[in-house]
Amino acid sequence: MNAPRKTDFQELSIDHVTVYVEALDAKVAELARTYGFEVYATAAAQKGARSAAVGRERIRLVLTEATVDDHPAAVYTRQHGEGVADIALTVSDAAAAFAEAVRRGARPVAEPVEHEGVITASVMAFGDVRHTFVQRREGVAEHRLPGFVPARGQEPAAQTGLLEIDHFAVCLEPGRLQPVVEFYEQVLGFRNTFTEKIVVGSQAMDSEVVQNPSGTVTLTLIEPDTSRKPGQIDFFIKNHGGAGVQHIAFRTEDIVDSVGTMSSQGVEFLTTPAAYYRMLGDRLRLVRHSTDELAALNILADEDHAGQLFQIFTRSVHPRRTLFFEVIDRAGATTFGSGNIKALYEAVEAEQLG
Ligand code: FE2
Repeated sequence: MNAPRKTDFQELSIDHVTVYVEALDAKVAELARTYGFEVYATAAAQKGARSAAVGRERIRLVLTEATVDDHPAAVYTRQHGEGVADIALTVSDAAAAFAEAVRRGARPVAEPVEHEGVITASVMAFGDVRHTFVQRREGVAEHRLPGFVPARGQEPAAQTGLLEIDHFAVCLEPGRLQPVVEFYEQVLGFRNTFTEKIVVGSQAMDSEVVQNPSGTVTLTLIEPDTSRKPGQIDFFIKNHGGAGVQHIAFRTEDIVDSVGTMSSQGVEFLTTPAAYYRMLGDRLRLVRHSTDELAALNILADEDHAGQLFQIFTRSVHPRRTLFFEVIDRAGATTFGSGNIKALYEAVEAEQLG
């Protein structure tokens, strides 16, 4: 018998996220002004597109706008509007990762190719979203991408304390949840770390969290329960035109500070009924932040077996009301709580009953 094959996916981490946009300059300006992201590289002369790489700390977003009608970014935005097209993963050997992923059943998109000391290769993930494996030769600067030149002399944006991408939330069509979980388990060696059936009134959805062994890449996968009334997952699939990334969660170590700064810079967050905070004391003995601090900024609190977490969702500024962001602060919690959705629902009920 053969020994289990050592995978090429043990050390992977998020390299960058490619977002296809319709108006690059406007999006760059918005993310700089509101999220405090800086432009660190630009690619002005790509074939049929122009790009800017923006971010802060370990957050790296590559925004790409098509300049010709048949560029993949043009095809994507016609179908979906602006959205996540690629979750690129840093690996130690991109060609080996690609070959192994394809051998295990992944659909190939782009064979391994090397430019400027950076080797890339891509496979399909879910919907129209890809995973590109990225390997840099020794001596190649961190985050360096072929065709991009480092940006200099950018205006420093205000600090928002956002550190890294904590997780992605992915909406899937009915029946697609298990196949996508299996893709991450069998092809990329992820583990299924959390399973939840969420029932909110007459709506329901099933969710599974998949994570790589070192915990650096996490996706929450969600499909609607079609035996119930349509809800927010159906809404996303309809408006996005299929499966895709519904939100990207950014981790901070002080959510009160981050959300306060982002709010003052124009980021709009979802609000939370006052009753949620009246009931919060019965549910949790808060660490790190007080009920008053959370209530003032509409921040939610929850816990898992390991500790607490604080989170808040931005109001989508997408014309189709699809992609949005989350800010999350982990005070010990390693997974996700299951209390928030139920607590919010009960709080809304309590408000309605007066
Ligand atoms: Fe989330």
